[in-house]
Amino acid sequence: MIRTVRTVAELRAHLAAWRDQGQRIALVPTMGNLHAGHHSLVELARNNADRVVASVFVNPTQFGPNEDFSRYPRTPEQDAEGLARSGCDLLFLPSVETMYPLGAESAVRIRVPGLADILEGAHRPGHFDGVATVVARLFNMVHPDVAIFGRKDYQQLQVIRHFAKDLAFAIDIVPGATVREADGLAMSSRNQYLSPSERSQAVEIIHNLRTMREQAAQGLPLVGIEEEAGERLSAAGFDVDYAVIRRADLSLPGGANEPGLVGLVAARLGRTRLIDNLEFDAPTP
Ligand code: PAF
Repeated sequence: MIRTVRTVAELRAHLAAWRDQGQRIALVPTMGNLHAGHHSLVELARNNADRVVASVFVNPTQFGPNEDFSRYPRTPEQDAEGLARSGCDLLFLPSVETMYPLGAESAVRIRVPGLADILEGAHRPGHFDGVATVVARLFNMVHPDVAIFGRKDYQQLQVIRHFAKDLAFAIDIVPGATVREADGLAMSSRNQYLSPSERSQAVEIIHNLRTMREQAAQGLPLVGIEEEAGERLSAAGFDVDYAVIRRADLSLPGGANEPGLVGLVAARLGRTRLIDNLEFDAPTP
């Protein structure tokens, strides 16, 4: 069984012992319900540090009022077993009171202006304030040398890099590759909300991202590529929030011939909202 701690005092006791031995510490923040994507982040953490701490906390401040906070899958025993198998050293399983000692409502918030307001932020107001707020708290509690975040949440990774740099956290932010199902669907805890027919439709997201990449490589106008992707996804039964092409820093590109472009999609199938992205210059997934 993996060692599990629930309080900051217990957490710091373990960390202090490792630091005394000069060990490098990696943090893998998660909301639990772990799948192969998370386990690959733990593996990446192992390759970047001597000790790996994973946190499991379903963070209330990053969910909007009509979102899935209460039904978000919580599987702590299964998560603990999986983390032990993937070589994690310590599981931090805090309560809401531990993460937000003065209450979530009156919590001091971290806000990344601009970056937190576009794309995901425009469709989920306040979401990235909640993410940045909880991740900054985890950074302060753990003081890791390195922290691992998946590329699947592309904008989240940019938001975290931005505030970590701006607030001078001396932490290497290391991105982990998106892990996909055999048909290409990006792994996500939310995939289990999909009905069998929605699950078959869901693969259209990565198919469309690949088409967007091909069309950009042909030099077609980006606005047209985005519009067509949105139309194809709508025709396939999605309620589309966005299907766009951006620079790596999420600013608007000048044209299809720029290097480093990324396609990003967010779309709903029934009650399930899915996001995915494809970095056009990365090796083909
Ligand atoms: O990506 C997630 O699972 C969450 O947004 C994170 C980074 C653990 C913060 O709650």
